[in-house]
Amino acid sequence: MSTKHKLIIGDCTSMRELSAESIHLMVTSPPYFNAPFDYQGLYDTYNQYLAILSDVASEIYRVLIPGRIAVLNIDDMLVNGEKFPITADATKIFQKAGFRYRDRIIWKKPEGYLRISKRSGVILQNPFPMYYYPDNLLESIIIFQKGRFEYKKVPKEVKNESKIDKKEFQENKWYMTLWEMTNVLPGSILEKDIAAFPDELPYRVIKLFSYKGETVLDPFAGSGTTMRVARILERNSIGFEIKPELVDIIKKKVGLPDLMSNGDTFELEFRKHDVSSELERRLTNEQFKAILQEIRDGHYREN
Ligand SMILES: C[S@@+](CC[C@H](N)C(=O)[O-])C[C@H]1O[C@@H](n2cnc3c(N)ncnc32)[C@H](O)[C@@H]1O
Repeated sequence: MSTKHKLIIGDCTSMRELSAESIHLMVTSPPYFNAPFDYQGLYDTYNQYLAILSDVASEIYRVLIPGRIAVLNIDDMLVNGEKFPITADATKIFQKAGFRYRDRIIWKKPEGYLRISKRSGVILQNPFPMYYYPDNLLESIIIFQKGRFEYKKVPKEVKNESKIDKKEFQENKWYMTLWEMTNVLPGSILEKDIAAFPDELPYRVIKLFSYKGETVLDPFAGSGTTMRVARILERNSIGFEIKPELVDIIKKKVGLPDLMSNGDTFELEFRKHDVSSELERRLTNEQFKAILQEIRDGHYREN
């Protein structure tokens, strides 16, 4: 089965290239507020971050086909000693956008995970009450649904083509709300400086919530993990990414140039009125933010 993949370089708070009710599954990992490793100082305030998430949630609701699923990999974030309840707030935001909150999976990374701050060391230095700060090995995977799925409408052949492998399901313990998955290891080249999730995350989600030949959306494409796994699993994909410099990485990850050999296609679209890479290079962070705001307000025109 040949598949189609499309990457749009643009801000996903508007996904105007997509028509309503055209997507079968959404799986993504948005930036985690001002995560110390990856997004330090990216957003001015937590409310600004939540407002962006809210715009994206409404857009996802609009483009999803009724009955279908939206999956968010997200987690609370510790910034300067204060924990921001992103998972709870995102859940409320998605409910407000119209979704039904269906499940929460906890993703557990292996012990010895390198990319966390070793806060627990504090108590070893000061073995007294009040010095307790645990190391975080967990992230959330929250699952939402747009209305109810009509199981009876799916033809038998379609179901059979995408049958879940029961052995894989049992052996890898997909049946629990605890998913033990190895994170992307530091030092991996394609994901350098991108908070990428491992293939295993979209792999499980795509197998569990879509049929072959359907279309999977990732509004925060990053290195293109979702798009890559969608192709491997014979689903079409659409990704949005705001950083033009990730295009080559995404292309490579999805499988270009070999991709075309079996009839799969890859389309790249730069949104006209979004920030071009040249412009982005010239701008300081503050100017960049102001322009993004203008784009959102619909006032921005490239010179
Ligand atoms: C956590 S990363 C996603 C990583 C991805 N799951 C992977 O495996 O590579 C979030 C991505 O969202 C992008 N991003 C942030 N704001 C965006 C926006 N408004 N529209 C589109 N992409 C955005 C960032 O540049 C970053 O690449």
